[in-house]
Amino acid sequence: MSSADPSAMRPRRFLPAGPLTGTIRVPGDKSISHRSIMLGALAIGETRVTGLLEGEDVLSTAAAMRAMGAQVERTGEGEWRVHGVGVGGLLQPAQALDMGNSGTSTRLLMGLVASHGITASFIGDASLSKRPMGRVIEPLSRMGADFTASPGGTLPLMLRGACPAVPIEYRLPVASAQVKSAVLLAGLNTPGVTTVIEPVPTRDHSERMLRGFGAELEVETDSAGVRTIRIRGEADLKPQVIEVPGDPSSAAFFMVAALVVPGSDLTIENVGLNPTRAGLVEVLRAMGGQIEELNARVVGGEPVADLRVRHSALSGIAVDPALAPSMIDEFPALFVAAALAQGTTVTTGLDELRVKESDRLAVMAAALSAAGARVSESADGLTIAGTGGAPLPGTAGAIATHLDHRIAMSMAVAGLASKAGVEVDDTRPIATSFPQFEALLDGAAR
Ligand code: S3P
Repeated sequence: MSSADPSAMRPRRFLPAGPLTGTIRVPGDKSISHRSIMLGALAIGETRVTGLLEGEDVLSTAAAMRAMGAQVERTGEGEWRVHGVGVGGLLQPAQALDMGNSGTSTRLLMGLVASHGITASFIGDASLSKRPMGRVIEPLSRMGADFTASPGGTLPLMLRGACPAVPIEYRLPVASAQVKSAVLLAGLNTPGVTTVIEPVPTRDHSERMLRGFGAELEVETDSAGVRTIRIRGEADLKPQVIEVPGDPSSAAFFMVAALVVPGSDLTIENVGLNPTRAGLVEVLRAMGGQIEELNARVVGGEPVADLRVRHSALSGIAVDPALAPSMIDEFPALFVAAALAQGTTVTTGLDELRVKESDRLAVMAAALSAAGARVSESADGLTIAGTGGAPLPGTAGAIATHLDHRIAMSMAVAGLASKAGVEVDDTRPIATSFPQFEALLDGAAR
């Protein structure tokens, strides 16, 4: 989001709507889109990408890579061409890199800059400027990079990269694919072997794609499931042709909408089902959701299927906290499903939700309560007593989204399954990850 001006906010009341039917296609995966541009920008030659997510977050990454010397151009809808500078070839940007709302752009690019002999400043919107960067500053400082951050280890910050950087062995203290990726990307231009130890597996797109681009990367998993990832630095990356699969985190809103709105029968095409991302499908099925996988195939090295989702009587469950990393962005949508299920849903182990684009535990508890749901908040989760399928009462005023796209989209879905509708204070943040969301929703739910 470029503007924090409240007068420019775009409120909308999402009204109860009929069943969701037909077939939709969700846009490209955000995580894979960011990485396609970053790795393309470090390969020598032309990388071609189709199905790229053209959301504001990915456009922030594209602008930053251009500012550091890569040629990044759009050639058609979702079609992009990247001419890279080679590992070690990033140029010092002339201006501060504006990361907008995007934590992924910020943390991954900090990794790239950390092992180049350049200095870059990072700035972002009000939401991003509150988010913790200490988690990447710490390992990247050990590699030799130098940081001047705002109080509390936040943006704006200035980063002076180290060249040569020092390879480290780093055990992740939080389950974070962004921290893992920042260290691995720094390792690309670091002599020797950089090692990341991941006690709890998180999304593995960086590992798959680094290998695809020709980096020497090994992953070892021990009997306890702890992963050790080693990357050999001063890598030569080869340009690739990449087809980005659809984003399961965007599909999540439509999966929940179709499950909770009576009469729905919706097919969502091209949904990425990498096991490190597919936790929500498992949890919704355990709640009784009818979700069928059709036409299973592999797209861009990732498992993909079309999902046929039918309205279902959902039951509340205790969600296994071990599943959290594989559905970390999907909890706001799950909370809406829980609010409409029969019985109680209990979630725990979700401290990380407090440091996303907003504090998603506090903000979803407030928003769902305002819509008439019965929610209680604990330190690390929500407990939600569902309506048993009856619509939520809906909101009188507008719920606060705090510049968080996933809050806006989740509460839009809650509005479909309400009596009076749910008013969202600002729909603009939706464009960070899913610019077509409202048009697709209006088309599918009539
Ligand atoms: C992402 C990792 C996750 C996720 C984010 C995208 C990535 O963040 O929430 O939307 O692309 O690596 P964390 O690493 O903070 O869990």
